Amino acid sequence: MKITISIIKADIGSIGGHVKPSEKILDAVKNHINDNGNGLVIDYYVGYTGDDIFILTTHQKGKDNSEVHQLAWNAFIKGTNMAKSQGLYGAGQDLLSDSFSGNIKGMGPAIAELEFDERENEPFLVFTADKTDPGAYNLPLYLSFSDPMHNAGLILSSKIGKGYTFNIMDVSYSDRDRLIELNTPEDIYSIAALLRDNERFVVEQIHARSSGEQAVAASTTRLHNIAGKYVGKDDPVLLTRVQGPFPATGEILSPYSIGHYVAGFMRGSHTGPMMPVKQNSPVSFFDGPPLVSCLAFCIREGKLTEPVDCFDQPFWDHIRDKVSRKALDIREQGFSGASMLPYSELEYGGIVDILESLEDKFKLR
Ligand code: F6R
Ligand code: MG
Ligand code: MG
Repeated sequence: MKITISIIKADIGSIGGHVKPSEKILDAVKNHINDNGNGLVIDYYVGYTGDDIFILTTHQKGKDNSEVHQLAWNAFIKGTNMAKSQGLYGAGQDLLSDSFSGNIKGMGPAIAELEFDERENEPFLVFTADKTDPGAYNLPLYLSFSDPMHNAGLILSSKIGKGYTFNIMDVSYSDRDRLIELNTPEDIYSIAALLRDNERFVVEQIHARSSGEQAVAASTTRLHNIAGKYVGKDDPVLLTRVQGPFPATGEILSPYSIGHYVAGFMRGSHTGPMMPVKQNSPVSFFDGPPLVSCLAFCIREGKLTEPVDCFDQPFWDHIRDKVSRKALDIREQGFSGASMLPYSELEYGGIVDILESLEDKFKLR
């Protein structure tokens, strides 16, 4: 049976700053899907990470289906109306268009979709992040799919050992999609050379070379490319099928033990370590640290099981302590050097204004 999994997420308002959506907007979003999804989606799940709400649906309409996208868009509109009525902060922030125009891509919300022939048992993972941008998944994906230090299957399983094909997008190019296809293991140095630049090159898809099947779909939205100015970080989502020809669940989770430094954190303008958190965690310290959560599901004929919260396990408490230390370490450096992002990535124009105002005060000697 051919199934599509779509995840669409947006920041449509939260309580107390950019912290966490209210129960009422979550209900408004859920109720809309529940009341209008019949005959369109097989199943759905609504959750949040930090201030971002995600709608996960399973259906048979394929990728880029306008009805499925519209369902999510309308649910976010309902949520936004509720957010406004409650006086929530940033109500409707990520909805950059006044009306829906057929495909939610380019309208603000982040989206990732996978279409495949459902296996007899079909496990997959859903990653959602807050206070960061799509390049945040570059390093974990590189390590899970090409490094035996994290993916033992690359040397233990001949299927996995055939490697993977990475589709990498140049997100600085906004006229059209600019993509490159590279294979592991032979192209890993080229892949690393691109993925080191998290703000420009982003993994969009990964396929298994053993079967040609798609393993990964990730969101690549850069809101500032759509709006022409910064309107918040992109807070990316990612879907990964696991087991069989794909990495095992633990091999996908392994790199999140690093707490690698990503762009985002306070005012979307800093560098901070990514903290793997339990589902529905809010942000706190310095509007962060950047968060990632992961839910594991199985589906049968498109019907979702209940989720398993992958980072809700004592091991990750230890990692969270480490990441908190890393966050404090870089915060000791305040605005200096590597702790704040370069001009092109700052979410606010204040620094540029300051520099401009000082321009005339410089004297040549
Ligand atoms: C939002 C974010 C926050 C805000 C900060 C200031 O995604 O990263 O750090 O940038 O809370 O918010 P404003 O400018 O909306 O007052
Ligand atoms: Mg926000
Ligand atoms: Mg957010």
